[in-house]
Amino acid sequence: MTDSLPLLLRAARGESVERPPVWMMRQAGRYMKIYRDLRDRYPSFRERSENPDLSYEISMQPFHAFEPDGVILFSDILTPLPGMGIDFDIVESKGPLINEPIRNIHQVNALNALNPKESLPFVGEVLTRLRKSVGNKATVLGFVGAPWTLAAYVVEGKSSKNYAVIKAMAFKEPELLHKLLDHFAISIANYLKYQIDSGAQVVQMFDSWAGQLSPIDYEKFAAPYQKKVVELLKSSHPDTPIILYISGSAGVLERMGQTGVDIVSLDWTVDMAEGCSRLPDNIGIQGNVDPGLLFGSPEVIKGRIIDTVLKAKGRKHILNLGHGILPGTPEENARVFFETGKNVNELISKA
Ligand code: CP3
Repeated sequence: MTDSLPLLLRAARGESVERPPVWMMRQAGRYMKIYRDLRDRYPSFRERSENPDLSYEISMQPFHAFEPDGVILFSDILTPLPGMGIDFDIVESKGPLINEPIRNIHQVNALNALNPKESLPFVGEVLTRLRKSVGNKATVLGFVGAPWTLAAYVVEGKSSKNYAVIKAMAFKEPELLHKLLDHFAISIANYLKYQIDSGAQVVQMFDSWAGQLSPIDYEKFAAPYQKKVVELLKSSHPDTPIILYISGSAGVLERMGQTGVDIVSLDWTVDMAEGCSRLPDNIGIQGNVDPGLLFGSPEVIKGRIIDTVLKAKGRKHILNLGHGILPGTPEENARVFFETGKNVNELISKA
């Protein structure tokens, strides 16, 4: 079986597979001691994610520790911004900071079209190396932030609680925001093409903060640009499966299924069986396990994974958390998650 395609890729394409593949959002990061040690030596997030040797090494840390079925590029959704003329930093305990937030039409008109080969060569290099290293033992995942979520960062200038600045723009100067969202959609589609050409086999689009929108506004400011990214990408790369993730998505699940993506990644506020019943059969399902569960006991973690897998049975399913693994999660509980996923058939037949 060593020469067949990796499990996660086959599952994402809709082939019937022996078990659901398993990976974790944010699987490389602060909950791992080996990552924290490396971070002590290289305190700059930009350096860790833009130096190809470091980004490659960090991407591989969870693979060496747990052999998940997916290996995701270590990077950030903000990484392509400097290539468009927007500088940023990620500051410990504050999160992302945009040096000059985008607030007017002159700034939007001045943005560069992203040329990923030129401004993000390290991403291509890392993806190519990851693909060579993992071979068919795992699937290499690329990712981007969706236009609405990128706009939320560059307009607000930082992580936000209530999104007042971008909502003021949406409800006072919608043409300005639409221009920014359109710019991001085109650039992000080109960035995904570059990631796939460099080695990514499945890609995930994070519209993490689209759940902050009323459904009527999701249809104006988030969905059309998710669709534009998908259409542009599918026009040249029709065979690469696309996953869409939104935090707080229970009110827009059906709409997520209409964006053209192949797989919808659920948070944990919806029951897996109900989430499945609200999406057409051809749309795959990912996620749904509460990241907070990994602070629980191994028995409870195993029980919940079995419940999740049984509820998703009969459809394209990728086992994952409902958002990124939390800092402070015991590493041995991350291991329980991966191991339970890999042995889920045996565990179900014994239960
Ligand atoms: O999944 C992976 O292992 C790949 C790595 C990855 C990171 N960011 C690394 C990172 C991915 C896929 C992201 C995506 C990302 N970045 C999203 C979408 C996913 C989501 O969580 O909704 C968002 C919204 C961002 C923006 C961002 N970057 C935030 C909110 C933060 C956290 C700030 C903090 O300190 O808690 C970051 C920083 C960041 N990106 C870290 C990591 C591991 C933590 C900083 C560090 O390790 O020093």
